[in-house]
Amino acid sequence: MKDQNLTRKRAAITAVGHYVPDKILTNAELEKMVNTTDEWITTRTGIRERRILEHGATSDLGAKAIQAALKNRGIGPEEIDVIIVATVTPDMLFPPTACVIQEKIGAKNAWGFDLSAACSGFIYALVVGSQLIEAGVHKKVIVVGADKMSSITDYTDRNTCILFGDAGAAVLLEPSEDNSMGVLDFRLYCDGSGREHLHMKGGGSLNPPTHETVDKKWHYIYQDGKAVFKVAVIGMADVSAEIMERNNLKSEDIAYLVPHQANLRIIDACRSRMDLDPSKVMINIEKYGNTTAATIPLCISEWWQAGKLQKGHNIILSSFGAGYTWGAIYVKWSMNNPKN
Ligand code: UT7
Repeated sequence: MKDQNLTRKRAAITAVGHYVPDKILTNAELEKMVNTTDEWITTRTGIRERRILEHGATSDLGAKAIQAALKNRGIGPEEIDVIIVATVTPDMLFPPTACVIQEKIGAKNAWGFDLSAACSGFIYALVVGSQLIEAGVHKKVIVVGADKMSSITDYTDRNTCILFGDAGAAVLLEPSEDNSMGVLDFRLYCDGSGREHLHMKGGGSLNPPTHETVDKKWHYIYQDGKAVFKVAVIGMADVSAEIMERNNLKSEDIAYLVPHQANLRIIDACRSRMDLDPSKVMINIEKYGNTTAATIPLCISEWWQAGKLQKGHNIILSSFGAGYTWGAIYVKWSMNNPKN
């Protein structure tokens, strides 16, 4: 654990907000599109439906999520210092989606950038944002996870199209009023040898888009599910146990595990390794599928809105994704419960 006698202010989450599009894509509808069944999808993944953004881009998901967070904090966009957008589906390769969002919400005093770490994008971005607060250089940092996964999903590929959905979710970071609360510790990893199993091959500098790359469907997600599954189960469970151990946290000390929502079986393995009761795990995969960078803040925002998070709760955020990238963050929750 980091120095408890930190003289600088820690970063605390002081507002949350999310946005999901209205259009729902159910397992029954997917049964008509590819050779799959509702039974296969629910038992293998836990997903029942996902949201699809029909018009607009990732910046729209992100902007709406940030606006919801600002509304519940009661501040205007001009107060934001920095916007960090975790995404693998930027509106365009450049300019950064953060700039598009900055303009859309009118954050006229902010700078911003995109961070690409796939399903671990949000936890990576939360660490970066919290360092900007701890360093004392900024007072209000927005961290938003937003992905329009439907824009890179091949709806003829049953291996992947059943998994992903679209969403955006944001948190506001500010200096903590109580240094025992906020983002207390993190452990992040990456391992590029995993890239062959989960990637989008075309469109970047290695394989610039051509008729050939499109014909080969390199503009879509490729995943060797089984290979990723094996390492994700171990990686997410190990790093979650590691963050507990180094902060002397026992299972009874933890209010919630907030896992990346890729597969219910991966989440359950992580929960079991942490020796947590199922009631202590945030799960909404059945409603949204895998929304990549948005899954973790989407859970936090929904649980906070429902009044299930109390000031002082210990929560562990944990993720595993393409790269490979993975990690866990220990947060002591510092927002008041909206239902109290
Ligand atoms: O978020 C980023 C990180 N990603 C992950 O963590 C995802 C990790 N992987 C997974 O979650 C799982 O591997 C999947 C859900 C993607 C797949 O589940 P699985 O239990 O690993 O299935 P599988 O890939 O081993 O496939 C088992 C069988 C195969 O048929 P055969 O070869 O046994 O005849 C597949 O062809 O299931 C078949 N299959 C399907 N059947 C019906 C694959 N996709 C489907 C489908 N519907 N949609």
